[in-house]
Amino acid sequence: MSKIAILPGDGIGVEIIAEARKVLACLDLSFEMEQAEVGGAAYVAHGHPLPDSTLNLAKSADAILFGAVGDWQFDKLERALRPEQAILGLRKNLQLFANFRPAICYEELTAASTLKPEIVAGLDILIIRELTGDIYFGQPRGRRESPDGAFAGAPEAFDTMRYTKPEIERIAHVAFQAARKRRGKLLSVDKANVLETFQFWRDVVTEVHAGYPDVELEHMYVDNAAMQLVKAPKRLDVVVTGNMFGDILSDEAAMLTGSIGMLPSASLNDRKQGLYEPSHGSAPDIAGKGIANPLATILSAAMMLRFSLDQEAAAQRIEAAVKSVLAQGLRTADIHSEGTRKVGTAEMGDAVVAALKAQG
Ligand code: IPM
Ligand code: MG
Repeated sequence: MSKIAILPGDGIGVEIIAEARKVLACLDLSFEMEQAEVGGAAYVAHGHPLPDSTLNLAKSADAILFGAVGDWQFDKLERALRPEQAILGLRKNLQLFANFRPAICYEELTAASTLKPEIVAGLDILIIRELTGDIYFGQPRGRRESPDGAFAGAPEAFDTMRYTKPEIERIAHVAFQAARKRRGKLLSVDKANVLETFQFWRDVVTEVHAGYPDVELEHMYVDNAAMQLVKAPKRLDVVVTGNMFGDILSDEAAMLTGSIGMLPSASLNDRKQGLYEPSHGSAPDIAGKGIANPLATILSAAMMLRFSLDQEAAAQRIEAAVKSVLAQGLRTADIHSEGTRKVGTAEMGDAVVAALKAQG
């Protein structure tokens, strides 16, 4: 039986995971599910954001359904104990190097985007972000006395941007294969005009391209890509990039769709073990109020069924149920507009369950 580790985390994580669990429970599938603390909640309970018990549970599972981590009350802790270290630790320990962040603008939500409807209507982009390398994890890093330059002797901080060839190759293969299943177009985003790391990235992606002659490859500098995302986003299809550029561009892409509250994500390793989480964060400002949008988490559960649990049909049922509640005019506060019905977190989850049951 497939095993799912459920890690709700902090803030709205707890509420939205509860809704995803309702949805999973009404499918005719049986899983072994085990829940554990992560992030600030784990720090409070066990003194560490990613305790061994949670890490071992995650390692032993086929898939991890993750809520969100982070809360202002933990911002003063030393970096190693902050909630964000939990998600970084899970990514690194499980080698979840391939992060899929789809940005889809649902027809019913076109008006919720800050961009003009004609720019975003029908938008369907897939950002593939490398997730375990780059400046996020590069060593050395730290603080020291500046060894040289105009400010030698002054205190300084530094991080290291680096990628090995195999790391670039494996994410490039994932991206070319994903592009092949869609429109056969791949955009690789880099900063080859300035950074050695990303000239190397461009060279390696070009080399890997030789094995995918049916896919059209384009390269673009990240500053231009940021501009194209708001200028003509529908020209983009599959975008592959490094960890830091992917972090930034995926938030930008999320805003094209109206609400980050709608966007799921998947982080996979080469064994198809995956961590599934909404693209939004823990939103401590609205936590506990019952108003958070659970749809990104519910859609993340659908991605989990598809990519890690081999249940494509169930994934499609959930996605259809989400479309149907939107068509019924139900909206949480983040996507609410005139003429639609504002509902809370639990009511939205119940509506998805009802839509699933109505499919017969
Ligand atoms: C994300 C988040 C994380 C990241 C933080 C919480 C560490 O912004 O998943 O995009 O920077 O990767
Ligand atoms: Mg981010």
